[in-house]
Amino acid sequence: MASNAFRAPKGTNDILPPTSRDWVSLTGHARALFERSGYEYVDTPMFEHTEVFERGVGETSEVVGKQMYTFEDMGGRSLTLRPEGTAPVVRAVLEHNLHRAALPVKVYYIGPFFRQERPQKGRYRQFFQLGIEAIGSDDPFVDAEVIEIAWRLLSEVDVQPRLILNSIGHRAASCRDGYLETLVQWLKAHADEMAPPDRERIATNPLRTFDSKEEKTIAVLENAPLITDHLCDDCTSHFAQVRSLLDDVGVSYDLDPRLVRGLDYYTRTAFEFVAGGLGSQNAVGGGGRYDGLSESLGGPPLPGIGFALGVDRILLATEDRKWADPGPPHVFAVALGDDARRDVFELVTDLRRAFLKAEFDVMGRGMKGQMKDADRSGARWAAIVGADELAAGEVTLKDLKNGDQVRVERDRLIEVVRDQKDTDGAGEPGRLR
Ligand code: HAM
Repeated sequence: MASNAFRAPKGTNDILPPTSRDWVSLTGHARALFERSGYEYVDTPMFEHTEVFERGVGETSEVVGKQMYTFEDMGGRSLTLRPEGTAPVVRAVLEHNLHRAALPVKVYYIGPFFRQERPQKGRYRQFFQLGIEAIGSDDPFVDAEVIEIAWRLLSEVDVQPRLILNSIGHRAASCRDGYLETLVQWLKAHADEMAPPDRERIATNPLRTFDSKEEKTIAVLENAPLITDHLCDDCTSHFAQVRSLLDDVGVSYDLDPRLVRGLDYYTRTAFEFVAGGLGSQNAVGGGGRYDGLSESLGGPPLPGIGFALGVDRILLATEDRKWADPGPPHVFAVALGDDARRDVFELVTDLRRAFLKAEFDVMGRGMKGQMKDADRSGARWAAIVGADELAAGEVTLKDLKNGDQVRVERDRLIEVVRDQKDTDGAGEPGRLR
């Protein structure tokens, strides 16, 4: 790289060919799968009023407390580049009254998110998520549906995920709030044995001590009281039903009563998908229920559940996979002379309008150079147009595999190419293999 050139900001990636093909293929596959399951596309702004995340995601979460790109606009408003998609989607649902129409609201999104984290493999400052949200129902069937969709997508693209599942109850003295009191007392009694940064969490966000990477803390927490032993009857039964429905559809999971997730809005079902070969950033996705989020954003009670999968991490986990290949052009058109160039441009346009992949020279190369480009492109045919062909209203079709040449009428070119394509059994470009 030249020393005076600009570089993309730290923690961001340029998505370039050929890797971008995998990106297009994965997101296309996800779209089709979400839509088959009744989810519709939404797109919210890249930035929101900062309060949406402070209230929605929670000020004690790491994401809001330490990782947001927050700035003031010219009107003195505090705005934040979205670090996640759930709070914005719920904000949009409430703002546009989607919840007043038929429930549940089932939506999906695909796009960039921003967190000011220390970059490393699989952890970026701009990253991409594929997510769905089902809003308006607390039926365990929705939990099972949502988890199965994430599991299926990951399985279909060969991630072979491990699903970790837990229930973290709901905000009530008989459930999580009561548990938190017990936990805080226990943590206070063991504070001396914990790593110093984790001691602060006892007061701010005690559940998050379970996420500590500090060996000392992990060892102490081996004996800590667990949320699953303190769930209320409703949450216990809800969780049992979710598990049983997942069993019905063959989704296997590992229960982990220490899985707490990093965002404060979660209630009841919480889950994460991990994949091998990714080092410490091995979570390819996560999600859960957020039954109180609507109220945190000023809306009515409106239960919801969803997930987000990390596109960057899925592509890292599937580096060896053969994704869709857009495939070579069916035809590379070669022009001999200026008049023929105009004709070739029309011919290529006609082929493309007929959904065939066609290329031609735009570098002004001579016959030899164009034939070389045709070979290099991997095209099945060169369609050659010179003065002779122009006068006769024909095209010379050269089979680049065996060198055979035939003259075909210009008007029949599409038909001939299409017939041969079907005989060859060539795949459509851009399909997931
Ligand atoms: P999350 O666990 O914070 O959940 O993020 C979901 C996924 O996004 C992660 O598992 C990971 O694959 C990817 N991801 C997160 N941060 C980064 C990063 N810095 N670099 C690369 N990939 C990253 C949420 O965001 C929730 N909104 C999910 C959800 C939807 N819950 C309910 N509905």
